[in-house]
Amino acid sequence: MSILQNLLNNRRTIYHFTNQEIKDTDLEIAFEAASNAPCHKQTHPWNYYILGEKTRESLVPTVVLLAEDKHKKKKDSERKYVSRAVSKIIDVPVIIAATTKLSPDDSFREEEDYAATVCSLHNLVLSLWDLGIGSQWSTGGITRHKSTYEILGINQQKERIIGFLKIGYPKDIPVKEKKKVSEIRKYLP
Ligand SMILES: Cc1cc2nc3c(=O)[nH]c(=O)nc-3n(C[C@H](O)[C@H](O)[C@H](O)COP(=O)(O)O)c2cc1C
Repeated sequence: MSILQNLLNNRRTIYHFTNQEIKDTDLEIAFEAASNAPCHKQTHPWNYYILGEKTRESLVPTVVLLAEDKHKKKKDSERKYVSRAVSKIIDVPVIIAATTKLSPDDSFREEEDYAATVCSLHNLVLSLWDLGIGSQWSTGGITRHKSTYEILGINQQKERIIGFLKIGYPKDIPVKEKKKVSEIRKYLP
């Protein structure tokens, strides 16, 4: 199998990262791949925001509020879920917020742009994987919260955060069961 076919089939979402630093030059290679994704009508609807230390620290109060709300029924006096949630924002080597352009007056354009942004994000993921770097697409309360938009300086009327991409060198690579090809493709007469 070619290197590219192997890359496509062997990429996995990575949940645990080492402390090894990610070089900006490697990120730039991946952004180049992201920029070369297909998009209908040349809209280039994607933007990527790399979250620096100050930005991540500004997100912590919202992360804590969300964790407390999610686990309010739990009997955990040490509130370990709070430190776990904070660690997921503070201790990851790189976090990127990916956004797609909104078109409030054109739902078809918005859907096509979302599809294109997903292509772009996956180009980014695969390009990183080719460099030995793993990532996790992550969505949740924090990627949707109003204060996240304010802190990141993203206009909620114009762009939607489709996820945070957490990036780092893999500590381990999970094994995932996938559907067989025979289950997902049908040749029609
Ligand atoms: C739109 C989208 C959102 C995702 N959100 C999360 C998430 O919030 N947390 C998480 O652990 N994984 C998230 N993932 C990763 C999936 O769980 C992962 O892709 C799936 O388990 C298949 O594993 P694989 O990527 O290794 O093939 C998301 C993936 C996609 C495509």
